[in-house]
Amino acid sequence: MTEFATPELDVVIPDDLAKPLDRLRDAASELGISLYLVGGPVRDWLLQRPLVDIDLLIANGNPKSIATLVRKGFGKDAKVREHPQFGTMSVEIGEHRVDLATLRKEKYPRPGALPVVSPGTLEDDLSRRDFSVNALALPLRKGGGEEPISVIDLGSGLVDLGESTLRVFHPRSFHDDPTRALRAARLAARLGFGLSRGARSALRDALRDGAFGGVSGDRLRREFIKLFTDCAVGGHPSIALVHLDKWHVLAALEPGLCTHASSRAPLRRLEKVLATPQWRVREHRPWVAGLCLWLSPLSAPLRRRTLARLGVRGDTSVRVLDFAKSCQRWIKELKGTRGRGAVDLVLAELDEDQLLALYATCEPLLRRRVVRWAAEDRDTRIPVSPRDLLNANLSGPVVGVALARIRAAYLNGEVANREEGLALAREILRRSEAGKRGRRPKDAGRN
Ligand code: CTP
Repeated sequence: MTEFATPELDVVIPDDLAKPLDRLRDAASELGISLYLVGGPVRDWLLQRPLVDIDLLIANGNPKSIATLVRKGFGKDAKVREHPQFGTMSVEIGEHRVDLATLRKEKYPRPGALPVVSPGTLEDDLSRRDFSVNALALPLRKGGGEEPISVIDLGSGLVDLGESTLRVFHPRSFHDDPTRALRAARLAARLGFGLSRGARSALRDALRDGAFGGVSGDRLRREFIKLFTDCAVGGHPSIALVHLDKWHVLAALEPGLCTHASSRAPLRRLEKVLATPQWRVREHRPWVAGLCLWLSPLSAPLRRRTLARLGVRGDTSVRVLDFAKSCQRWIKELKGTRGRGAVDLVLAELDEDQLLALYATCEPLLRRRVVRWAAEDRDTRIPVSPRDLLNANLSGPVVGVALARIRAAYLNGEVANREEGLALAREILRRSEAGKRGRRPKDAGRN
């Protein structure tokens, strides 16, 4: 075991997690439970990257003492979700998640299947992991500052961290779990790491043996969701997809699947806008916007097959499939717009995923229009309500028409207040009635 002296623990732990972790550490010492920070958080902490989620290993203790530990750490009102079949539980704290697991080992019944887990030692638990840099553990105990805390490194995790390398523990690692290739691409893109020679060879063997065919669409989709969600923690799906393409993983998922060069700039813009939003981004799914951009240059049949392979169905699948065509239409309409009201008419029909993907596709001038609309105009309330229109004797379909026209005029600055809005509504009503009168003889002639 390599021991690695570390400075005080809580320097990079987000504020809202620091207190629960301190309490957990104290409670674990009181209860005689050995608790370890493990995996991603240790890796990120050593790389001085911000911690997002916390993974903890509980090395001993019985169900009662573990329940006491959790209660002392998170308080009795914390929402703890237990997953007894995996020996794990998780607690949401603000935007973060703490996962606690007991020590386990894993066995893969067949390549690509979910592992069967059973109790194990710390060594089992660390060596079942994907990459050596994810197999580091840091004991959490009340040190009082005298005792240095040391990282437990059973493989070559610390060296690999220094050399920016993803190393697997054994040559059949990707056979056991081919989704590790997607994790590798995501981590490599996020951290600027590369695969070790052994990992490359293990991946080639898994591809040759058709291991990817055994992975369910649900598992693949979950990995792609993570890949695109990585934008929020400094990840780069655009680069991860290039890795997967170069490693021949995409083609193993679906023949012909690749990353077209023309999707790279839009994907990079998506990464940027999600990392530093230009407007108050509403509820969205980065992976849907990401799939729209990644797949839109590919042929429609390939898009369809890929979505089916990833188990993307229903409305989401339709949106991703149609994006290429819809996006061209939105861009054409946006180019032809005069005034903010017209932009509103085009963009109001998009959901947030489509808006993000459209933004990432457009040229700078149109991007500015999208940002101005999303940041300033879309939440604008017009000074006239449907009730005002009913009181002004408008009813039926003309109410909708009038509201849309008033909204456009208000955003364009042509209508400044309720009175002017109502005047425009009366004018619309007058014209609509004149129109009906004008059509009457013709309608009558038809009878
Ligand atoms: N793990 C694994 N194989 C998988 C999934 C996970 O070996 N297919 C291991 C990894 O060692 C990982 C740990 O389980 O560190 C926890 O998984 P997860 O929370 O998904 O990974 P993190 O590394 O914590 O998160 P991220 O990669 O997003 O930073």
